[in-house]
Amino acid sequence: MDTHQQWDIVTGIGVTALAVAAARAVETSRPASLAQDPFAARFVTAAQASSPMPTSVEDLAAEAGEDGGVWPNMIDYIAVRTRAFDDHFLNAARDGIAQAVILASGLDSRAFRLDWRPGTVVHEIDQPLVLDFKLRVLREAEAEPRCDHRPTGIDLRDDWAAALQGAGFDPTLPTAWLAEGLMPYLPPEAEENLLHQVHRLSAPGSYFAAEYFSDMGTVLTDPMMERNVLALGLELGDLLHSDRRPSPAERLAEQGWQTQVVTGPDKANTYGRALRPSAMHDNVRLVSAHLP
Ligand SMILES: C[S@@+](CC[C@H](N)C(=O)[O-])C[C@H]1O[C@@H](n2cnc3c(N)ncnc32)[C@H](O)[C@@H]1O
Repeated sequence: MDTHQQWDIVTGIGVTALAVAAARAVETSRPASLAQDPFAARFVTAAQASSPMPTSVEDLAAEAGEDGGVWPNMIDYIAVRTRAFDDHFLNAARDGIAQAVILASGLDSRAFRLDWRPGTVVHEIDQPLVLDFKLRVLREAEAEPRCDHRPTGIDLRDDWAAALQGAGFDPTLPTAWLAEGLMPYLPPEAEENLLHQVHRLSAPGSYFAAEYFSDMGTVLTDPMMERNVLALGLELGDLLHSDRRPSPAERLAEQGWQTQVVTGPDKANTYGRALRPSAMHDNVRLVSAHLP
């Protein structure tokens, strides 16, 4: 039975999914954007959160104070990570993968906007109320999934692996997994279990991608991070777990995965973008892994 606290899109951790959607909406409105998410602005508008969130470069300019406001740094990074993880799925598709799992999918609309291989099954897992909100907005937009889309509402600290298999996940097929914007919200034992389950359910040929902070202590005590989170009506210390833990790359490498880790700024450079020095940008790492 689920004993964990639940949230929707305008409370607790759910608000972070909305903030990420706002960042994607702004990036979508930029010329030469790194990613196009035609649904992101709709989510933000439909949620009517108590803290206002931008959905375009014009909103951003209006919100910016003398110091540029709290959003630009976050948007710059979210743009890079969105593109990096879009590429992760598209590369896996080119390699013949036709099963994907998006862990903590929030308002990720990749099932509705990426060019999946014909017949691809895309599973998503997040809190039930978060997924309900997303599906309602997509239905109202008459959006059509570009794959066989299977959302499963469950807490990732519970037995999500059984729920995933109940939704038709096939562990004999290679899978492209993603944990985007998730690890800092999980206690270490939940992250360890999550990676254990990912490995257990991965057939040879599977891909995995995620991000993590190399030094959570620095991120947690950074005044700008604190201000960003306060602007969303949240408290940094209530959201993120500071406990030291092995990186996802280390954990997967121990299980025989081939792993690569790149810093946020280096990833941005590969797309011709620069990330300004900050606790978030200096500490964020993107992991990609392949199980031979
Ligand atoms: C920062 S958002 C990222 C959402 C999405 N991956 C994206 O990048 O747009 C964090 C997401 O993690 C989800 N999440 C965090 N902890 C979770 C848990 N224990 N069980 C299910 N979902 C969780 C939240 O509901 C939220 O949607």
